Amino acid sequence: MTKNSSFSLISTNKIIQMNDVSTSYDSKNFALEKITLSIDRGTNYAIVGQSGSGKSTLLKLMNGMMIPNGGIIKIDYVSPDMNNKKFKKMMHTIGYIPQSLGLIKNITVLDNILIGALPRLNKIQSFFKKFPEHEIIEAKRIISLVGLTGKENRKAYMLSGGEKRRVAIARALMQKPTILLADEIVSELDQVTAKEIMNLIADAQKRMNLTAIMVHHDMQLALEYANRVAVIKEGHKILEIGVEGDTIVDFQTGDMTAEEIMEIHADDTKK
Ligand SMILES: Nc1ncnc2c1ncn2[C@@H]1O[C@H](COP(=O)(O)OP(=O)(O)OP(=O)(O)O)[C@@H](O)[C@H]1O
Ligand SMILES: [Mg+2]
Repeated sequence: MTKNSSFSLISTNKIIQMNDVSTSYDSKNFALEKITLSIDRGTNYAIVGQSGSGKSTLLKLMNGMMIPNGGIIKIDYVSPDMNNKKFKKMMHTIGYIPQSLGLIKNITVLDNILIGALPRLNKIQSFFKKFPEHEIIEAKRIISLVGLTGKENRKAYMLSGGEKRRVAIARALMQKPTILLADEIVSELDQVTAKEIMNLIADAQKRMNLTAIMVHHDMQLALEYANRVAVIKEGHKILEIGVEGDTIVDFQTGDMTAEEIMEIHADDTKK
């Protein structure tokens, strides 16, 4: 058994644990194969890899949208399966921002963000989409936090790419999440805006003891913000690295030097 694959290492500090997890979209190919990882509560975890390597699939396993064909997943010690009552109860505390952002184009910024509060409404409020005043106040507070004050009543389709991402983050924060899953939220942005968005999430993390799990294309950005970076290649987790002091450390095997890690990454990005 490898260092990371034993559940004897379980501690209350681990909010996500995956042990030898495999999944596929069809009967022939694995989209992910034997993924083992664990994520500490309150940290920022990044997932990096080439297109098609399985990054989005990994997030879908963490929010119960997909279930594994093999292995064990625990999200706060609960199996992320829509048929599991315990998971259904905690689902709304997982803020998921899909690669496509999932905003409703023809409604306003405020209404998009209020969607995050829907699970807290009673049946009648929910049916009439009648949000209590305190939820509207909370939405406006979050709008200011993400720098969208003045744009509350603008329709989502009228926003810039960076603004749309801020709305998606605000909607997720409105859920009062313990886990934030964000799929390439800064990938298509210029460096300045990307950093603004990353700082916004880092700030929210400090305020809310949030665990952020973010898929990135840019390894440098991932290393700058994340405590740990998992590198996925063709459905396998080939590295788990992080910065300690001014060097890159291999947390997966403990054997690799910073130079060897960068060589593997450079080879991976060339292909
Ligand atoms: N709905 C689907 N049906 C069948 N195969 C799929 C589906 N979604 C993804 N796949 C396949 O699963 C593998 C992993 O896809 P995934 O979307 O997780 O990759 P990714 O790393 O997020 O890529 P990208 O960086 O392009 O977003 C790919 O081979 C992809 O073609
Ligand atoms: Mg993807």
